[in-house]
Amino acid sequence: MSIEVAVIPAAGRGTRMRPATRVVPKALLTVVDRPAIQYSVEEAARAGAKEAIVVVDLDAGHLIAQHFKLGGSLPGLEDIRVRPVVQEEPLGLGHAVYEAAEMVADRPFFCLLSDNIVRPGQDVLPSLAAGSRDGETSVMCLRELSDEFLSKYGVVIPDSEVSDGYLDLAGAVEKPGPEKAPSRYGLVGRYLFTPDVFSILEKIPPGVGGEIQLTDAINELGSQRRLRGYVAETSLLDVGTPPGLLHASVVLGRSRFEPEVFED
Ligand code: G1P
Repeated sequence: MSIEVAVIPAAGRGTRMRPATRVVPKALLTVVDRPAIQYSVEEAARAGAKEAIVVVDLDAGHLIAQHFKLGGSLPGLEDIRVRPVVQEEPLGLGHAVYEAAEMVADRPFFCLLSDNIVRPGQDVLPSLAAGSRDGETSVMCLRELSDEFLSKYGVVIPDSEVSDGYLDLAGAVEKPGPEKAPSRYGLVGRYLFTPDVFSILEKIPPGVGGEIQLTDAINELGSQRRLRGYVAETSLLDVGTPPGLLHASVVLGRSRFEPEVFED
């Protein structure tokens, strides 16, 4: 099925990227030759989305909006409209996604965390759309994680074996750590949601860290048995930390430039 709208939360202050993010929002940090968030908008456009709703904060939101507005459309983004929405208070990822509720209305939507960039040629959104059973289920992109990452990612509760890359899910737990993790499958920042996630987000209480957690809403979808996972074949690049940003720049740079560029 075709998904026409994507929500891209980009209101994070980027505390792991200080001092680079004292003034510049982390979504605008350069990866090779464009701001990190542009990769997510391009990815949504490749998957056929016509609208990208970017959730920004009050301080820096206008800069992100301006990037996509200045001088007409950017190459690869001719067919997608970027619309900012402001998250006035940093109340968590679930709260950020909820800010897009009015603009998304009753449409299924992709959600892309712009800290994570897909590797060249490894798009996962089409596989999420293909797994959605005509828009009846939400589909989460997953990766099998090693112990150290089980306290850094949301982790899902499987409800079936993996078949053709997909499995049914019964829920999810935010950053459980290796002791409490219900599986090794982590939520890696690409989601396809049915619009009823908004009515769940509207009601859930603050969770881990006192924040409205997207993972808690995913857990509720799982308890209704309307949740599936898709296990991605490769990891996404995490540009939210200094070593991750360096690694992503090298991987993405190598895919674009001749090898001689990297010789000193
Ligand atoms: C967020 C989500 C978490 C998810 C992760 C993916 O955490 O809360 O469930 O696994 O993104 O990158 P954050 O990275 O904002 O701490």
